[in-house]
Amino acid sequence: MRIAMIGAGKVGQAIAGALRRGGHDIVFGLRQPDAGAVDQQRIADAVRTSDASVLAVPVGAVGEVVAASGGFVGRIVIDATNPLGIGADGLGLTMGFDTSGAERIAALAPQARVFKAFNQTGFENLADAPAYAAAPAMFVAGDDAAGKRMVMTLVADAGFAAVDAGDLRGARLLEPLAMLWIELARKRGLGPDFAFTLQRKEPSA
Ligand SMILES: NC(=O)c1ccc[n+]([C@@H]2O[C@H](COP(=O)([O-])OP(=O)(O)OC[C@H]3O[C@@H](n4cnc5c(N)ncnc54)[C@H](OP(=O)(O)O)[C@@H]3O)[C@@H](O)[C@H]2O)c1
Repeated sequence: MRIAMIGAGKVGQAIAGALRRGGHDIVFGLRQPDAGAVDQQRIADAVRTSDASVLAVPVGAVGEVVAASGGFVGRIVIDATNPLGIGADGLGLTMGFDTSGAERIAALAPQARVFKAFNQTGFENLADAPAYAAAPAMFVAGDDAAGKRMVMTLVADAGFAAVDAGDLRGARLLEPLAMLWIELARKRGLGPDFAFTLQRKEPSA
């Protein structure tokens, strides 16, 4: 597939590398593409020529990106952002319980097919999931059944165990899960070299 990566920072580069390794083409959708770079385009052009787009920008840039894309009409949008901000207790989520960043994007782009994925672990793991003996879990939330099959395939091709977390409201659980990873990795000393996995019991005889 051809994927528009909106943002070429830590997360954009990490997912792009993982998806390229999985056999996909990446074009970066940027506000100022380098005219000489074959893999960079304006956001609208990258989105229009791709099978799906990944949002890898700060949450504060989402409105601008939706506008620049023309509203992602009919397009699959994978939201890798997290609605983070600095509060009284330091870094934390700025919304939750009754909505999510992903649902806010769906409200801003009502004709887009929005999914939450690639937000739940650090960029180090997004780049290198196959380094783990057991594939790290990556939950996928979104409403569109056909689009979800495609997103689950992309997540698996990036080296994760893709797990269907239901409709887009599931993002209300996946954004706090990202916060838990951040808390453990960046504040509580675990560092970035760990990932959450999903295990199953052996079926009893
Ligand atoms: N860091 C992590 O480990 C991690 C993990 C999972 C999810 N996330 C989430 O992923 C998102 C990106 O994080 P990051 O660490 O990759 O940030 P980053 O390294 O700062 O990169 C941000 C990217 O967004 C672009 N950008 C900023 N404002 C923009 C705008 N108005 N329009 C278009 N592009 C814009 C920047 O491009 P310019 O060069 O044009 O400024 C840059 O390429 C955040 O929402 C974050 O919460 C982060």
